[in-house]
Parts: sequence; structure tokens; C-alpha cells
Amino acid sequence: MFITLEGPEGSGKTSHIPSLVEYLREKGYRVFPTREPGGTSIGEQIREVIHELKNAEMHPITETLLYQAARAQIVEEVIRPRLETGEIVVSDRYADSTVAYQGYGHQQNIDEVHALISYATGELIPDLTILLDLQVEIGLQRKQNADEWNRLDAYTVEFHQRVRAGYLEMVKQNPNRWAVIDAGKDWKIVQEEIRKIILDKLR
Ligand code: TMP
Repeated sequence: MFITLEGPEGSGKTSHIPSLVEYLREKGYRVFPTREPGGTSIGEQIREVIHELKNAEMHPITETLLYQAARAQIVEEVIRPRLETGEIVVSDRYADSTVAYQGYGHQQNIDEVHALISYATGELIPDLTILLDLQVEIGLQRKQNADEWNRLDAYTVEFHQRVRAGYLEMVKQNPNRWAVIDAGKDWKIVQEEIRKIILDKLR
């Protein structure tokens, strides 16, 4: 089972994954957490290039392709092999981030973006995607306070609003794969909701 967590900046995905993994392991499931971009040695190096604040001149097409390069590596090196052994892979972001950020955010051609994703992933689509939805201003403030500011966070508020709207559009287009949680709620409630959605799916 391949599960992905998605959301705009500061929605808390990263803080939820360790507790979620621990919980599922206590229930007896074999779970492997990973993140994008990154999750492999090559992917982490690409992540640094993409997020480096001083790479301000990076073109959106370069950005899109670098995310696909990191993705192709993690799919082939980690995700597909783990899924084949029956493990549950929980990924902090995956291909929907590209549709939201590079497609909707940068307003690149969505069909072309989808074609690149298909090439990079060999058509590997998550079984379940949870969107932690949050107001853009609140999320960006959270990230600034946490001192985790990267090159993408520095894009305009309008960019991040297009990202959030893009996610909500994807949910509308594919409600069977997506579940939405209001990430503005208390952390514990959000964690409980994530657990419940995943357990329901596993059953
Ligand atoms: P995060 O680890 O804090 O979520 O940072 C990852 C950043 O990369 C975040 O700003 C979203 C962005 N991103 C994309 O723009 N496209 C992608 O395909 C992925 C995986 C992430």
C-alpha cells in the first residue's frame, strides 16, 4: 500500500509522519516512511540544489525536471522495491506536489506536467493521498516561525494560493484517492484523523 501526505506550506505533514509510523508499527504493520524531494542519497543532493535560497534564477522548467529526477530515483531505489515486499510506504509529498506547485503554482501546462510525472514514476500512483489543508497565510507564518524557510517558501502568497487551490481541484477530480483534513485543527485531532483514514483503507 502506497500512502502519500500532501499539503501547502506549514500544513504539518512532516510532524505527523513519525507518530503515524510508530502507531502503525505497534499495530503490526510493516511501514517505511520517506520524503520528497529526497529520501535517497541522490535525491537529498538534488533537494539541496532546488531549495537553496541563492539559486533564485532557477527556471520553473528546471525546477520541474529536478523534482522528477529525484522522484525517479526514489521510486526505483526505494518505493517500488518496498511495495513489492508488501510494506506500507508513507511518503511526505509525492507527484501531486509537482502538479500543485509546478503545474498550478507556476502555471505550467498541466498535461505536460502529467507526462513528465508518468515518465519519472513509471505510472506509480498512490493508493491513498491525504491532503492536510490549511490557509496559506497561516502555513507560511508557521514555517517562518520554525526557521525552515526555503527557496519555494519565498514565492509570492499568490503562488501559494494557486498551490492550495490546485490541491483542492485535484481532490474534486479524484475523490476516491484523496481524503482531506483541516490542518488548522489541534495537532492531536489531525493525527487521529490521519490514523483513522489509513486504518479504514487498510481494512
Ligand atoms: P518540505 O519538505 O518542507 O515540504 O519542502 C518541500 C518543498 O518542495 C515544498 O515547498 C514543496 C516543494 N515541492 C515542489 O514544489 N514540487 C514537488 O514535486 C515536491 C515533491 C515538492
